[in-house]
Amino acid sequence: MKSPKQYWESCFTGIDAATHDFSHSRPSTALIDVCQTYLKPGDRVLDLGCGGGRNAHYLAQRGYHVYGVDVAEGAVRVCQKRFARYNLSGEFNQGSFDNIPYEDGYFAAVFCIAALDHVSLRQAQSAMREMRRVLAPGGICLLTFDPEDTDDDMLDDAEVLADGTLRFIKGDQAGMLFRRYRDGEIRTLVGEDRLLSFQHSDDGARIVMCR
Ligand SMILES: C[S@@+](CC[C@H](N)C(=O)[O-])C[C@H]1O[C@@H](n2cnc3c(N)ncnc32)[C@H](O)[C@@H]1O
Repeated sequence: MKSPKQYWESCFTGIDAATHDFSHSRPSTALIDVCQTYLKPGDRVLDLGCGGGRNAHYLAQRGYHVYGVDVAEGAVRVCQKRFARYNLSGEFNQGSFDNIPYEDGYFAAVFCIAALDHVSLRQAQSAMREMRRVLAPGGICLLTFDPEDTDDDMLDDAEVLADGTLRFIKGDQAGMLFRRYRDGEIRTLVGEDRLLSFQHSDDGARIVMCR
């Protein structure tokens, strides 16, 4: 049985960013609005759970100082090579949501897109603390969570852990964790007093801005 990290590593095995076709790799639309409203060029921004770098790529093109962290070394390598290929400037490191390898108050913004729902509730709670630790005073976080009914048709492939998180034990996603958050659980996770906005996208994803 793969661990979650092994699962994520397997997603990046075999991607050579020097030749890979990134033409369909579009940034999250949630990100685009936030940048215009809250950030100025030159701000340091962290893409936490950066994956193959679709959001980091956009952020670098917009003139932000981009940093990316992912649990998968393969993701870090893809982003580094992708940035070199497109002559973009950015720094990528392996790390995890609950151990972000940067000092306190370093970032104007942290983006955690389609990623925080891939850990247990306890890890998500420590991730929230870590994100706040690395945010500068007045900094903002953008989090997105997949629709609540995601993987409805694949529940037979998963077991339910004690905290309600799904762990896939067979099929293509074996090893992956996924937590199907209800809106209220997201609000509790973030804290009502920290919440700036909570929206639903057309496809049912939840887009959360917080401090
Ligand atoms: C669904 S992908 C989203 C990637 C990217 N944010 C995007 O929007 O394209 C989830 C990402 O979270 C990363 N991830 C999962 N668990 C993590 C953890 N504990 N710490 C850091 N990254 C993690 C995975 O390796 C993967 O790249």
